[in-house]
Amino acid sequence: MTEDRAKEAALNCLKDEPPQKYVWDAFVRVFHWSLVVAFSIAFYYRESEWDRLIHVYAGYTVAGLIAARIVWGFMKTGYASFRAFPLNPLLAVRYLWLTAQGRSRRYIGHNPAGSVVIYAMLFCGITTVVSGFLVYNDGWLIDDPGYIKSLHYYVSWLWLILVVMHIIAVITESILHKDNLIWAMITGCKRSSTKLEKSYWKKEI
Ligand code: HEM
Ligand code: HEM
Repeated sequence: MTEDRAKEAALNCLKDEPPQKYVWDAFVRVFHWSLVVAFSIAFYYRESEWDRLIHVYAGYTVAGLIAARIVWGFMKTGYASFRAFPLNPLLAVRYLWLTAQGRSRRYIGHNPAGSVVIYAMLFCGITTVVSGFLVYNDGWLIDDPGYIKSLHYYVSWLWLILVVMHIIAVITESILHKDNLIWAMITGCKRSSTKLEKSYWKKEI
């Protein structure tokens, strides 16, 4: 059933002019935009006691989304699988270096620098949610969790910094490689590699 749907989506991408490749499955797209909404709500309603319940429920939504994404990442889910975008900081630095010179190659899935930021965001997400849970349920595991409160505060701000970097990188990458990555995260379809790109890079990733 899911395979049939994936095939249908891939065929729809092929109908585009020029034909496109199906890269982001429905799960990843729904996960991504739901995470954007839940994170924004949690951040917006972070301060007052009055809004605490909205903050906490948005935070739990983030937790559920991240847990589901991790399970999805360990499955055979093509470009969404963790195997398709390994965590490799050295490759990420090299990619940034080449990008600064306008020489980086185009990736169909996540590029090495994007991958590092994605893993960092997932890590910040888990830490934020676990620390938030411990602060909210004061006394359940830890009494008077002052340092966990600080951790929750700083890691959520770190996450926000990563989000800003992520958005700047998505826009830069879209301009450099003449892609519309934002639209691809909505439709799932992405421009296929050109013949020149393929011959240059040998295989499409
Ligand atoms: C709270 C804000 C955001 C968070 C936490 C976030 C998080 C993520 C994560 C975790 C991924 C990896 C997707 C996956 O493989 O499952 C991703 C990819 C992506 N995000 Fe975001 N994102 C945020 C905001 C945005 C915004 C505002 C945009 C558009 C301007 C955007 C555009 C994209 C795109 C285009 C990708 C795919 C990148 C690629 O082609 O490699 N994100 N984001
Ligand atoms: C995306 C997820 C989350 C983000 C971005 C986030 C962010 C923040 C931030 C920035 C603050 C500091 C507010 C201030 O300026 O004083 C805060 C406070 C707080 N958060 Fe979260 N949070 C998240 C999830 C959660 C969750 C899941 C819980 C509980 C289950 C939680 C419980 C709390 C509590 C109790 C406080 C008040 C701490 C205090 O008394 O200083 N948060 N959160």
